[in-house]
Amino acid sequence: MSESKTNVTSESSVECYGEGREATESTVTIHPTESDSDSDTPALSESTAQALQEFYDEKFAKEKTTTEDNENIILEEDWQLSQFWYTDETALTLATEAQRAAGENGSIACVSCPTVYKKLRFTKPETSVVKLFEFDQRFSIFQDAFVFYDFNKPLELDETFKEQFDVVLADPPFLSEECMKKIASTINFLSRGKVILCTGAIMEGLVEEILSLHRCQFEPDHVHLLGNPFYCYANYNFDDYVPRKVVSKIVEQ
Ligand SMILES: C[S@@+](CC[C@H](N)C(=O)[O-])C[C@H]1O[C@@H](n2cnc3c(N)ncnc32)[C@H](O)[C@@H]1O
Repeated sequence: MSESKTNVTSESSVECYGEGREATESTVTIHPTESDSDSDTPALSESTAQALQEFYDEKFAKEKTTTEDNENIILEEDWQLSQFWYTDETALTLATEAQRAAGENGSIACVSCPTVYKKLRFTKPETSVVKLFEFDQRFSIFQDAFVFYDFNKPLELDETFKEQFDVVLADPPFLSEECMKKIASTINFLSRGKVILCTGAIMEGLVEEILSLHRCQFEPDHVHLLGNPFYCYANYNFDDYVPRKVVSKIVEQ
């Protein structure tokens, strides 16, 4: 399967992984010191412009802090980056199992799976280390926990990460042999033990062969239904801890 051959079938059913809507971003920039060449445009006095700049700086700093502290921050899926978010329940299930498997003092690498990282960020014990290896710079809001990662350069990672993670949890952006093999070399670089991988059913043979993973009973769910079967794989007895379907504890009134 080629990386570029993709399909979006509808808003609620998506052929994994594909292209889709463009991400849009709006940015506000003010330049209080910039001289205005258009004399018809009203100009702010220097002190007013400075006060305005301070107001915006404070506002943005506050928003950023709120974002960092907010477990529920939702960043829109960018289908150009093959982003398909797990449901809340799936993200929490994977995060809970990764934490259990790593242990209280363990370390976890989330490779291209930011929603699981978000859960761990707010549930992990203080003694545990969790990093997010991710291409989408929007997740740099998580500061030191964010490590820029491009699967095309799978080993361009700091040497200090080598074999440092008790659990590596990954969800590659593309269902291609090339992408899988590159992410596998990253996983092998980071891992010193357990591996959990979520990817399409069509990758089963390859992940068994190159990473010695077996398919688990748990089936991850996505916010937008995928048009193709999608599984979870691991190199340990994951099934002993995670059932096939996690029954929601939320009882509708
Ligand atoms: C299929 S999604 C997996 C997301 C996961 N289901 C979740 O809910 O967190 C693929 C992930 O790969 C990331 N990604 C896209 N291009 C990438 C690249 N070149 N290198 C590494 N990761 C990339 C996307 O930003 C996205 O987080």
